[in-house]
Amino acid sequence: MEILLIVGSEMGNAEMVGDLVKDELESGGHEVEMITDGDLDSLGLADRDAVLVVTSTTGLGDVPQNLEPIYDALVEERPDLSHLRYGVVGMGDRNYKDSYCGGPRKVDGILEQLGARRVCETLLLDATDNPTPDEDAIAWLPTYLAALEG
Ligand SMILES: Cc1cc2nc3c(=O)[nH]c(=O)nc-3n(C[C@H](O)[C@H](O)[C@H](O)COP(=O)(O)O)c2cc1C
Repeated sequence: MEILLIVGSEMGNAEMVGDLVKDELESGGHEVEMITDGDLDSLGLADRDAVLVVTSTTGLGDVPQNLEPIYDALVEERPDLSHLRYGVVGMGDRNYKDSYCGGPRKVDGILEQLGARRVCETLLLDATDNPTPDEDAIAWLPTYLAALEG
């Protein structure tokens, strides 16, 4: 399967998870394009099918800066994404209370509003009590893949 992997990361944690997720998917025979910057046009969403978002949270519930141009353009341009199927691995820290995992929640929210279909439950990773987000993300992948393929 061809999967567009969109990674939002401020300090590198989510990028590390994204790198490992990419390796795991590729070793399972999938074709993965991983995006860590660029704008909405460069994603070519009109020609995609499966998307996986791995993103952390910054500020007070905000998407990381590298994802901001894409997120803002989705909000402003509101393209029809009803052909897309996606999953989300979100990272945050529950000490931020109400803004816990606000980054992934925002991305999930706009994708849903634009008609894309989340294929399985989002994996939220709390930095406070999770020293191995990479292992948790890898363990979640079969759920995402089964939902895409099923
Ligand atoms: C300046 C700053 C602001 C943050 N704000 C939030 C937040 O509002 N909500 C949340 O759940 N986590 C927040 N976090 C926690 C990060 O999302 C978490 O540590 C994550 O693992 C960082 O991943 P990254 O290095 O890929 O950005 C914040 C972290 C920093 C350093």
